[in-house]
Amino acid sequence: MADAAMPGALPVLGHLPWLRWRPLEFVERQRALGAVTSFTLRRHPAYLVNDPDLVWRLLTELSGEVGRGRNGDKTRALTGNGLGSSDGDFHRQQRRLIQPVFHRERVESYVPAVREAAEQQASRWTEGEPVDLVRQMLAVAATGVLASLFGVRSPEAMAHEVAAALPTCLDIASRRAFASTRLPSTSGRRYAAALGRLHAVADALGRRVPGGPAEAPSFFLSRLWEAQDLGLPGLDDQQVHDEIMTMLVAGVETVATTVCWTFYLLGRHPDIAVRVEDEIRQAAGDLTELSHLRRVVRESLRLFPPVWLVRRRAAAPLRLGGQKVGAGASVYFSPYGLHRDPRWYTDPERFDPDRWLPGRQRGLPRGAYVPFGAGVHRCVGEAFGVSEVTTILASIGARWRIVPASARVRPKAVVTLRPDRMPVTVHRRP
Ligand code: HEM
Repeated sequence: MADAAMPGALPVLGHLPWLRWRPLEFVERQRALGAVTSFTLRRHPAYLVNDPDLVWRLLTELSGEVGRGRNGDKTRALTGNGLGSSDGDFHRQQRRLIQPVFHRERVESYVPAVREAAEQQASRWTEGEPVDLVRQMLAVAATGVLASLFGVRSPEAMAHEVAAALPTCLDIASRRAFASTRLPSTSGRRYAAALGRLHAVADALGRRVPGGPAEAPSFFLSRLWEAQDLGLPGLDDQQVHDEIMTMLVAGVETVATTVCWTFYLLGRHPDIAVRVEDEIRQAAGDLTELSHLRRVVRESLRLFPPVWLVRRRAAAPLRLGGQKVGAGASVYFSPYGLHRDPRWYTDPERFDPDRWLPGRQRGLPRGAYVPFGAGVHRCVGEAFGVSEVTTILASIGARWRIVPASARVRPKAVVTLRPDRMPVTVHRRP
């Protein structure tokens, strides 16, 4: 297949307005143009990898040559040099330090806190009440992370801070990355205020309380502190702060968004919702029994992957699928675009959890389903994220039916792919 340049560049800005205003159309259009397509962002050369095998190579074999890069990265602006933005040897060191926090057995111990967060939120609902699901699921996800990862005993007030500040930070960070003009100073002030609130939460979480922890023990924090006491290179107080910010930024919105999209999809597909309800009832709280719900979540992450666009930067010149990529160029791939490719998914726009029944997707290229990325930067919180989403859906779904108030909710592609708005009404199950 010939590799091609994306048409529609403006003189100075290049394709920047596309990414700002029609980002999903932008990535989907390039699919037909070639395995690796090129475009420009303010004269800066950029590439989109549309071929799953090449995406896989990019993330595995080529990860040394195509790293995260340091400049103008919207993640770095939020989380400093935390695990989500570091690279190379330092990233390897930090990954080794943090990974055990997300091992499967440990993740199981986080489930009760997440379940409690979901049940508490829903216990305030009344029959037929309209609910702003996005906001409420952010609060649930934040409560779950604060209680389980950080050992906060009464996380409600802090979770409220995170849920209120996070969307503003992500929205404005993303607008800044793709804005063609300077953003108005009011948005700069809103960004600074929201980011300040998140930093304040991270500071409070990272404070070592003299005379022993006042809260429940946190495996995550104690690992960081122990390593710090042993003198692990680069692990100063700022780095600990950055790792805490990373968990808040990477681990809350992604989960909340996935829960919202899944409720939305179930609301639009009552036949599938009924099967989920039956399964939840029969499983009586045992998450391992929920194989249909897991397929539902998998399919929801296919259609609406929260991380819809990932960027890398070529450290040195390289060839990618016949395309010459110069040093310093940005190389992107889009889970959203890959997940809706009709070459790998029949009827790709259809919500069909059964496509994930064993054996059905045989032959699917590895890079064609990448909601959690791949290779050295693969989501460290994947098992935790999936367990949180499943737990929240199962605990709320056991007692409540969530009915979307509008027939169609449009995805808004900012840092994450989130519902523009998601008004719903909640109805108690008989
Ligand atoms: C449904 C939920 C989630 C989705 C879809 C998701 C998606 C992703 C993706 C695509 C990446 C790779 C980014 C890249 O290649 O640059 C990533 C990385 C990461 N995620 Fe997640 N994530 C989820 C939940 C979580 C949770 C719950 C946490 C932690 C509490 C978390 C923490 C991280 C971190 C720290 C990284 C950086 C890993 C590294 O570079 O070593 N994520 N996530």
